[in-house]
Amino acid sequence: MDTLASSKPVRFFKSGTVHTLFDVAPTRTLLEVLREDLHCTGTKEGCGEGDCGACTVVVGELRAGKLHTQAVNSCIKLAHAVDGLALWTVEDLATPDGSLHPAQSAMVACHGSQCGFCTPGFVMSLAALAEQQAGKAISRETASHALSGNLCRCTGYRPILDAAQAMVDLPHQSLDTPQVRTGLRALAHVAQAEAAALAPGQPVAKRVQKPAASAYTAPTDLANLLTLRQAYPDAQLVAGCTDVGLWITKQHRDFAQVLDVTRVEELRQIDHYPQHIAIGAAVSLTDAFAALVAQRPELRSFAQRFAGLPVRNAGTLGGNVANGSPIGDSMPLLIALGAHLVLASARGYREMPLEDFYLAYRKTALRADEIVGWITVPKPLPAPRSRSKTSAANGEFCRVYKISKRHEDDISAVCLALQLRLDKGRVMDASLGAGGVAATPVRARATEAALRGQPWNADTVHAAMATLRAEFAPISDMRATSAYRREVLGNLLWRYWLESQGSTAIDLQSLTLGGPQP
Ligand SMILES: Cc1cc2nc3c(=O)[nH]c(=O)nc-3n(C[C@H](O)[C@H](O)[C@H](O)COP(=O)(O)OP(=O)(O)OC[C@H]3O[C@@H](n4cnc5c(N)ncnc54)[C@H](O)[C@@H]3O)c2cc1C
Ligand code: FES
Ligand code: FES
Repeated sequence: MDTLASSKPVRFFKSGTVHTLFDVAPTRTLLEVLREDLHCTGTKEGCGEGDCGACTVVVGELRAGKLHTQAVNSCIKLAHAVDGLALWTVEDLATPDGSLHPAQSAMVACHGSQCGFCTPGFVMSLAALAEQQAGKAISRETASHALSGNLCRCTGYRPILDAAQAMVDLPHQSLDTPQVRTGLRALAHVAQAEAAALAPGQPVAKRVQKPAASAYTAPTDLANLLTLRQAYPDAQLVAGCTDVGLWITKQHRDFAQVLDVTRVEELRQIDHYPQHIAIGAAVSLTDAFAALVAQRPELRSFAQRFAGLPVRNAGTLGGNVANGSPIGDSMPLLIALGAHLVLASARGYREMPLEDFYLAYRKTALRADEIVGWITVPKPLPAPRSRSKTSAANGEFCRVYKISKRHEDDISAVCLALQLRLDKGRVMDASLGAGGVAATPVRARATEAALRGQPWNADTVHAAMATLRAEFAPISDMRATSAYRREVLGNLLWRYWLESQGSTAIDLQSLTLGGPQP
C-alpha cells in the first residue's frame, strides 16, 4: 500500500495568536496537545471518553461570514481536527486586564464551583451558550440542554444552572472579535496556499513526493476524498471521532493513516428536494436532528436524548450510521422514516434502504473504497384536513422512544421508532425500526405486517404487541435483560397507541409523584 503525504502541521488560532504544531501524530488528541504541548492545564481530563465534560473546549469557524462556535470534548477530538479553526479554553475567557467572562463571573456569584475539577468544562459550555444566546434570556431548559454533556460529581447542578441564567444579567462579552476573524482568515489563506502548491489536476495521493509513515488528511472536496479512499482503503476513516476517539483513548488503538471526511463541502450540506431531504454524512448530529425536527417537531425530545450536546456537536449522522452499533439511536428512527443511504466511491454511487446496509453484528455493506455519502429521508406527508387535534385517526403518526438507565447522555437499552399512516381509523402503512434487540439495527417486519390493513384499535395493538415481543431474540447484558427488552418493546407500542389516542404527558419526565399537583 502507498502511504499518504506526511502529516501536515496543525494550525489553529488561540489566545490571540496562530499556533503551529509540527509532527503531531494522527491519533494524538486535542486534550493531549493542550495539556502536554501547550501547557494549558486548565482543561481537565476526567473520563477520557466524552462522558463527563471536564475537557470541554469551544471551537469556532467562519461559515458564510458568520462565526460558528460550539462546545466539544477535547479528550476524543483529534488534534488535527482543529486545523484551521479558532479554539478557546478556559484560559482564554478573561480579558487581558483580568476581567472575567460572564460565564466565570456568574459561576463565582452563584457558587457554582465545589471541587472545581469539572468547573472549566462547565464554564466552557456556559461560554458557548452565552455566545449562542448573545444576551437573550436563558430558560432553565435551555441551560440544562447546554450542560447535558457536563457531569458534576458532587451534584451541584442547581447553582450551576443558576449561573447559566444569571449570565444574561452581565454585559455580553462575545468571542467573535476582529482579532479572531483576522486569525481565521490568515489560517484560510495558509490552507489555500498549501492546496495551490500541489500540482493541479492530479489526485492528492499521486502528488506526494516523500511518502511518510503517518498522516492525517482532511480533503475539502468529494472527488479528492473518493480518490484517496480508493488509493488507501486501509486508512482509518473518521468523522466527528466520537466513536473512533474511544478506540484510541480506551482501547489504545493506533492508526498510521487517518482520512477525515468532515471538511468535504458536499458532505456538510443538507439539501431539500420536493419529496425528501438529503443529509450529508458529515453533517453534525446537532444540525441533522435540527433538520429532522424541522420536518417532524414531535422528534424534538428524542433528539435531545442522543448523547450530550458536545458529542452531538462533534459527532455526525454519517458516523452513527456507518458505525452500525445495534444500540445506535438514529438508525431505528431513520428506518421507521424510510431513509435510504447513498454510498459513494470513485466508481460511482449506489443507494439502498438503510436496513439493508446492516449485514451482521458490526458488518455493513460498505465496500473498501466506499464512503457513506448521504442519508435521504422522506418528508412527512401533508397532514389531512380532517385530522383530529386529540387523536391520529388519519395521516402519519410518528414517535420514537429511547429507554436508557440515565436520561442524559446514556446509551439505549432499547430504542423503538414507529410511523403509521392511518386513514379513517385503519392502518394503511406501518414502519417500525428497533435498536437494542438484535445484532444490528432492524426493521420489525412481522409487526409491520401484523398492523398493515388492520383497524387502529386496542385489539389490533394487543395482537401487534405480542408479535413485536416475539419478533426478536435480544441478548441480556449490562444495560438490560433479554426479558426486559422484549417486555418493554411491547409496552412502547402500547404507549404509542395511547399517544395516538390523545394521551399526553405519559413519559417519566412528566410524572408527578403523589398525583397531579393543584
Ligand atoms: C459520551 C458519548 C455518548 C454517546 N451517546 C450516544 C447515543 O446516545 N446514541 C448513539 O447512537 N450514539 C452515541 N454515541 C456514539 C457516537 O457519538 C455516535 O455513533 C456518532 O454518531 C458517531 O459519529 P462520528 O462522526 O463521531 O463518527 P466517528 O467516530 O468519526 O466514526 C465512527 C465510524 O464510522 C465510520 N465513518 C464515519 N463517517 C463515515 C462516512 N462518511 N463513511 C463511511 N464510514 C464513516 C468511521 O470509519 C468509524 O468506523 C455516544 C458517544 C459518546 C462518546
Ligand atoms: S474527559 Fe470526560 S468528557 Fe473528556
Ligand atoms: S464541582 Fe466538580 S464535580 Fe461538582
